[in-house]
Amino acid sequence: MVVSIHHLATDAGVEILKQGGNAVDAAVAVAFALAVVYPQAGNIGGGGFMLIRPAHSSGSKKLGDGKPHFIDYREEAPAAASRDMYLDADGNMIEGMSMQGYMASGVPGTVAGMDYAEKHFGRLGLKAVMQPAIRLARDGYVGTDAELSTWKSKTLAANAEAHRVYQRNGNYYKGGETIKLPDLAATLERISNNPDDFYNGTIADAIAADMAEHGGNITKVDLAAYQVKDRVPLEGKYHGYKFLTAPPPSSGGIVLQEILNILSGYNLRKAGADRSQAQVHLITEAFRRAFMDRADYLGDPDFTTMPLTQMASKNYAKAWRKTMDAIKPTPSKELARPAGFMPEPPKQIEKHESMQTTHFSVVDADGNAVSNTYTLNFNFGSGVVIQGMGFAMNDEMDDFTSKVGVPNGFGLIQGPNNAIAPHKRPLSAMTPTIVTKNGKVRLVLGSPGGPTIITTVANDFISVVDNGLNIQQAADAPRFHHQYLPDQLDVEKRFPAATADALKTNGYNVKRSGEFDEHNPGVWGDSELIAVDPKTGELLGGHDTRKPFGKADGY
Ligand code: DON
Repeated sequence: MVVSIHHLATDAGVEILKQGGNAVDAAVAVAFALAVVYPQAGNIGGGGFMLIRPAHSSGSKKLGDGKPHFIDYREEAPAAASRDMYLDADGNMIEGMSMQGYMASGVPGTVAGMDYAEKHFGRLGLKAVMQPAIRLARDGYVGTDAELSTWKSKTLAANAEAHRVYQRNGNYYKGGETIKLPDLAATLERISNNPDDFYNGTIADAIAADMAEHGGNITKVDLAAYQVKDRVPLEGKYHGYKFLTAPPPSSGGIVLQEILNILSGYNLRKAGADRSQAQVHLITEAFRRAFMDRADYLGDPDFTTMPLTQMASKNYAKAWRKTMDAIKPTPSKELARPAGFMPEPPKQIEKHESMQTTHFSVVDADGNAVSNTYTLNFNFGSGVVIQGMGFAMNDEMDDFTSKVGVPNGFGLIQGPNNAIAPHKRPLSAMTPTIVTKNGKVRLVLGSPGGPTIITTVANDFISVVDNGLNIQQAADAPRFHHQYLPDQLDVEKRFPAATADALKTNGYNVKRSGEFDEHNPGVWGDSELIAVDPKTGELLGGHDTRKPFGKADGY
């Protein structure tokens, strides 16, 4: 079973499963296919995380060493990066510099990550699993208006090569047209023959030359130095289930774990119905508290010490529960962390995250599971397409703390532990997660959406485990989000009005997405999920219908 945001990427994964590939083979095929058919987020110029859970820990069927792995192929700051690189001489943020253009990119990790995953866990080899992507780029595919709407981006138009490749110099692609990406096809072909070409060969030369010509930072030395980090996933427990999730440099897993630890002290079903005032209140107060810790403590584990054990402690969660009122919200500015658990946090700052990431899930017939979230950060990342290579570069540098103490538009706060430093990885919210029960996979979860990723994964988890929704209902259910600051409860347009009104009456600052903006779709995230029926072992895909061009499929 493969579930992704784009039907052609799902088809690529299914094609590889049919050839005898395992879940990792299929996942790598999907990742490269998304770089072609969903290049606004699917990528080779970005990075992300792949969580792999082999079904068997021993015997001939085991994948790799049979243990779960978290493949960290997050981008990393180039050697020339420095803490204040986005500040002018007066110490003010230079607007847009961390988000657009040549200075905004971290060293991409996707090619190294896919190569690593395929080498250690795949069966068919990189060349075979990249064929669907190469074919799509070379022979073309038919797009739809829905998926092409973001290709008109001004950021892309500002870069001559991007404007040529993805905007046909202003003759924008329309739904129904065939899109061919010959430069990207040639780049993918090169990678399929020798993935190291991206870091030490012709592609590396092209990236370094383009950067040097336009004042970017990434050099051949940076590319050659890039390393995948094979990390141990975080493990948690919730109401009889176990879950594997993202460790730092993602904030996602530890924040999810803290949320679920706080909620494990309640019977949400007894407290109230699905999306009722009583349930949403408890969940929101757990979100608020866990996001406070995210803001204060998290960063790249190779550069910072973080109180992860304390954050994951059940006693700490219990102490948090004691700070929660039965009905009323705790205003974020009055929220006090329970004493005696955590170290003094470094000084806080505010910071935003932005929109363009994608998640996909794969489970093969043997029960091996892959949960992958990867990103360019913004739509088409920095908007830079490397000369002659056909792919967009990320703007992941914007996930760092650019200036301590500066609040910005989206209001997500982060700390100095996430300051920029050479070779450091910016803090992420991506939360690829695999839920098990009695040693078997039950759910594969994940979504895009910056900070809302974590609450979307929590919403989906709770929808199935506590509220008994099936996986499609969980993907479609109305989402709600709180991230501590700003102190507001975001709800999707489809969120029940009666619940929103009740929460408002109790003191919540409820913000209904899209309420005052007809161009805002009023939804967020994109849950591309799999459930495994505990009785029959049947694989059930939940494709997020907020995105009309995705697909869940198996064979
Ligand atoms: O790593 C992160 O958390 C962000 N770069 C993700 C951005 C994102 O999800 C935007 N998506 N819609």
